[in-house]
This record gives sequence, C-alpha cells and structure tokens, in this order.
Amino acid sequence: MLSTQIKEATKTEHQETEKKVVLRIKNISTNEDYIELLKCFYAYFNTVEKAIAPYINTVLPDYSERRNSSYIKADIEELGGTIDKLPSATAAEVKDAIQAMGALYVLEGSIMGGPYIVQMLQKKGIEKGFSFFSGYGAESGLKWASFTSALNVLPQTESDVAKAVDIARETFKRFGDVFEITSLIQAK
Ligand code: HEM
Repeated sequence: MLSTQIKEATKTEHQETEKKVVLRIKNISTNEDYIELLKCFYAYFNTVEKAIAPYINTVLPDYSERRNSSYIKADIEELGGTIDKLPSATAAEVKDAIQAMGALYVLEGSIMGGPYIVQMLQKKGIEKGFSFFSGYGAESGLKWASFTSALNVLPQTESDVAKAVDIARETFKRFGDVFEITSLIQAK
C-alpha cells in the first residue's frame, strides 16, 4: 500500500522536520515568538496548497472541508499578529494528482503531531491560537483513514509510487528549509 511505503520512505525526513520544529518551540517564550513559528507554517502550507489546488478535488472529494492554512491565519490573528512579512517558502513542483496527494500526505500527516505541539506550547505559557494544531480533534483518526484510503487507490504503476514518495520527501525537506532560512536571519 502506498500509505505504508510512503511512511517508511519518509521516516528520516519526518524525524528531521520534527527536530527542527521542537527546537523552534524550545525557543518560544512569548506570543510574538509563537506568531513567528506560525508564520513559518503559514508561508509553507499556503504555498503547497496553491501548488496542489488544480489536481486535488477530483481525487479527494472532502478536501475543502479539511484543515488548511486559513486556520493558521486565524491563529496568528487571534494572537494579535498579521500575515505580513512572511518567511520565503518554496513548494515542490506539482504536475498531477499523484504528486498532489504525495505532497498533501505531509500536510495532513502533520495533524498527528499537533497534540504534542500544543502540549509543548502550553508548557511554554502559550494559551491560545491552537486551532491549526488541534487538527480535527477526536475526528483526526477517521480523517486520516479516509485520506490514506484515497491515497492508496491512486497509484497504477511503480513509477506512480516513486513519484508520490519523491514528492513527499521533497515536501518535508522544503519545509525544513523555511526553518533554516528564518533561523539564519534571526541569528544575524
Ligand atoms: C513536534 C513536532 C512533531 C511531532 C512530535 C510529531 C509526531 C508525530 C507522531 C507521534 C506521529 C504518528 C506516528 C505513527 O502513528 O506511527 C506523526 C505522524 C506524522 N507526522 Fe509528525 N510530528 C511532528 C511534526 C510534524 C510536521 C511538522 C510534519 C509535516 C510538516 C509531520 C508530518 C507527519 C506525517 C506525514 C505523519 C504520518 C505518518 C504516517 O502514519 O504515515 N509531523 N507525527
């Protein structure tokens, strides 16, 4: 099944992304710091959403009901921030439905880490702006199952599988790049 293959193939990339996010959270002590983290998520997720938009609706009918970057914008605004001056973010090039679903695998899967992220933020004294990281709440398991079902019916050939795996890897990596760039800027 593609969902199992993609999970296995992106284990390292997941660990690296998780490390970067955890490191950023460790440095958070104010709502402003949290807004900066959310801006990284917003810049990247919004860019990937635009890249996949032309291909996704036919293969994932409930896509428009799923969590998306508008939740991040709402959280930033609840915390008193704006989406001005976003960090730069680049999505992988998406040319078909299989690549769109491979990229969306990374965004949808990030919901699984959400509860851990909320817990870490609360320990840092952050009290609001959690709509994005709360994912689908109690529905998260069901939504993930329906996503992976839609993913698993797609590939027709080995090359489809490889395409989905490659873009998922690249989607993790390019998200990591947003953190590299912003931490370089912050270090200056
Ligand atoms: C503090 C940060 C994070 C933590 C603690 C975390 C933790 C987790 C955990 C516990 C799972 C479930 C693993 C399983 O059931 O086998 C998971 C799955 C996943 N996470 Fe994360 N995660 C984090 C950040 C992210 C981010 C930022 C992304 C993507 C941008 C991401 C993408 C994924 C994906 C795609 C899966 C699905 C794996 C699968 O079952 O196929 N995670 N994560």
